[in-house]
Amino acid sequence: MINSDNKATLSFSDGSPAVEFPVYKGTIGPDVIDIRKLYGSTGKFTYDPGFMSTAACNSSITYIDGDKGELLYRGYPIEQLAVNCDFLETCYLLLNGELPNAGQKKSFTDLVTKHTMVHEQMQFFFRGFRRDAHPMSVLVGTVGALASFYHDSLDITDPHHREVSAIRLIAKMPTLVAMAYKYSVGQPFVYPRNDLSYSANFMRMMFGTPCEEYKVNDVLVRALDRILILHADHEQNASTSTVRLAGSSGANPFACIAAGIACLWGPAHGGANEAALTMLQDIQKQGGVEKIGEFIKQVKDKNSNVKLMGFGHRVYKNYDPRAKLMRETCHEVLHELGLQNDPLFKLAMALEKIALEDDYFVQRKLYPNVDFYSGIVQSALGIPVSLFTGIFAMARTVGWIAQWNEMISDPEQKIGRPRQLFVGSPTRDVPPMTKRG
Ligand code: CMC
Repeated sequence: MINSDNKATLSFSDGSPAVEFPVYKGTIGPDVIDIRKLYGSTGKFTYDPGFMSTAACNSSITYIDGDKGELLYRGYPIEQLAVNCDFLETCYLLLNGELPNAGQKKSFTDLVTKHTMVHEQMQFFFRGFRRDAHPMSVLVGTVGALASFYHDSLDITDPHHREVSAIRLIAKMPTLVAMAYKYSVGQPFVYPRNDLSYSANFMRMMFGTPCEEYKVNDVLVRALDRILILHADHEQNASTSTVRLAGSSGANPFACIAAGIACLWGPAHGGANEAALTMLQDIQKQGGVEKIGEFIKQVKDKNSNVKLMGFGHRVYKNYDPRAKLMRETCHEVLHELGLQNDPLFKLAMALEKIALEDDYFVQRKLYPNVDFYSGIVQSALGIPVSLFTGIFAMARTVGWIAQWNEMISDPEQKIGRPRQLFVGSPTRDVPPMTKRG
């Protein structure tokens, strides 16, 4: 954070004296006005539901320029990371600030690999759930429960404890996600295998059975790895802010990540890829490509409440850079599986083309987001729709834990405690029962 020479002056129409605030510059991005002394000097708060204009922290992890359609992890463009690095290199980068060299990559991979097993007792937690429980509900419960197994790494003031917890979370998430899936389909849990890569191991735990050897398909593994890279972090989104807020009270990392998973579960956040796929399936059922015109008409009708799912973003007012990469992966996966003529993919491409040329979408700067294609890719990989958000949680765990760690290490960190504009009843006396309406 760099102090700039600029100051911001706030003046009032009621004759109260004007106050001046420092303005800071980041390395890139908009300047911020430091209003921490506002209440002390004026007795007034700011009002900003949804944090539309409020930076709640300073961070050096991820940067998004929504107008340019740019996403950087630690300064590196997502397009370069997705092509040149694997997910564990990306994890190392997000956690440590720099890409690993060959030796660092090997030690980090070994470390994560050695923590992939979960405590054997964990399977009894799974058995407590109904078979048809939503995987996100299972993940909120089981990730939170990890805290009860690892008392040796819960001292959040100790950087070594924080590092051990980070590794445990990154390593165990795929095992828990795969266990949630296996439990839902009534198949035996598959233990992790340490000679496989992070993503290959996950695919095997998902789709392997004790009856036959699971054959790793490199194209599909690479596709999953790319999904994980693209979803690894996204600066101060709702679930990350939830993790930071939970952590600001000193809660342990497993509890904080469980809180992040709960937030991600909501349809406005992690659930959109599921919605995009369902939308494509619905259009397909009604007649496919020929019905696009009719569907777009409904989307444009303000009274219809129909949205083009997988389009639009709060921050990106340009093509989501992750969507371009996911589109490419979609081609590769469908080609590998001989599904190039997959009607849903063809429909998605036709829908995208029409929407990108339509005035309604052009004027509102509505472009495809990552979810437009990720649902098609995941379903081609054999991942059931109900697990899409679980895969997102698995990818985002590293971002959550990196942001949590950054917050704990920040000397300016305070417990998160927003204020309110109170609009309820002023003080009144409790009436006796006979006088209540
Ligand atoms: N289809 C049709 N119209 C849309 C859409 C859409 N997908 N998105 C926005 N609009 C319209 C909206 O109706 C409004 O029109 P008007 O100005 O005439 O009232 C205008 O565009 C601005 O929209 P907004 O709702 O103010 O934008 P927002 O920043 O609050 O919403 C959004 C962003 C992502 C919630 C929204 O675009 C949306 O609901 N998209 C569909 C769901 C989706 O794909 N979500 C995934 C987001 S990416 C996931 C991630 O990064 O984690």
